[in-house]
Amino acid sequence: MKANGSAPSEPNIKIRSATIDDLPAIFHLGEKVFTPKDVSNLYRTWDEYEVTSLFNTEPEYMLVASIGKKKLVGFALGTVIEKRRSAWSYGHLLWLGVDSAYKRMGVAGMLFDRFRNLMEKAEVRMLMVDTQADNHAAIKFFQSKGFVNPIDHIYMTLNIENQ
Ligand SMILES: CC(C)(COP(=O)(O)OP(=O)(O)OC[C@H]1O[C@@H](n2cnc3c(N)ncnc32)[C@H](O)[C@@H]1OP(=O)(O)O)[C@@H](O)C(=O)NCCC(=O)NCCS
Repeated sequence: MKANGSAPSEPNIKIRSATIDDLPAIFHLGEKVFTPKDVSNLYRTWDEYEVTSLFNTEPEYMLVASIGKKKLVGFALGTVIEKRRSAWSYGHLLWLGVDSAYKRMGVAGMLFDRFRNLMEKAEVRMLMVDTQADNHAAIKFFQSKGFVNPIDHIYMTLNIENQ
């Protein structure tokens, strides 16, 4: 990707802040991208409330990649986490998704670079991402952006229905 933030192979793709009119398209693209088989997650689920509540609370950290005004080909949704009694704040990139027809064109790279820029302006000191251990595309992508120290995380369940 070029330093000015434009993708080399798709010159018309632009990164901008999400508006309320983008919410349905973000939700529907997310439904295609975050399929339970590929990106299931026990503690986070992709649904319309995720999109609307993030827009209600932190719209400044919702970015979209679009062609023209209408066609949405990717998005990055994040949040800033402040810890009590700590000077540190963390930027958590919660959801990053790119339309499968536009993968490997630098779209996620452009979204991430803009997100990082926003985090720097918010004086965040550390960025965090999480994904499933078998999501190799995402892991490679995050590594290409400099993320290190992957930590395994175990999820456990206890069925209390019949106890
Ligand atoms: C992961 C994802 C966001 C990457 O989007 P993308 O726009 O295709 O990524 P980019 O084109 O910016 O890739 C930049 C670099 O990341 C790495 N990368 C991206 N996808 C990769 C893949 N499938 N395999 C290996 N490396 C990959 C490469 O180093 C790539 O550079 P290159 O194309 O010059 O080799 C996209 O595959 C996606 O939407 N996946 C499903 C949702 C998801 O898993 N989101 C992340 C967790 S929330």
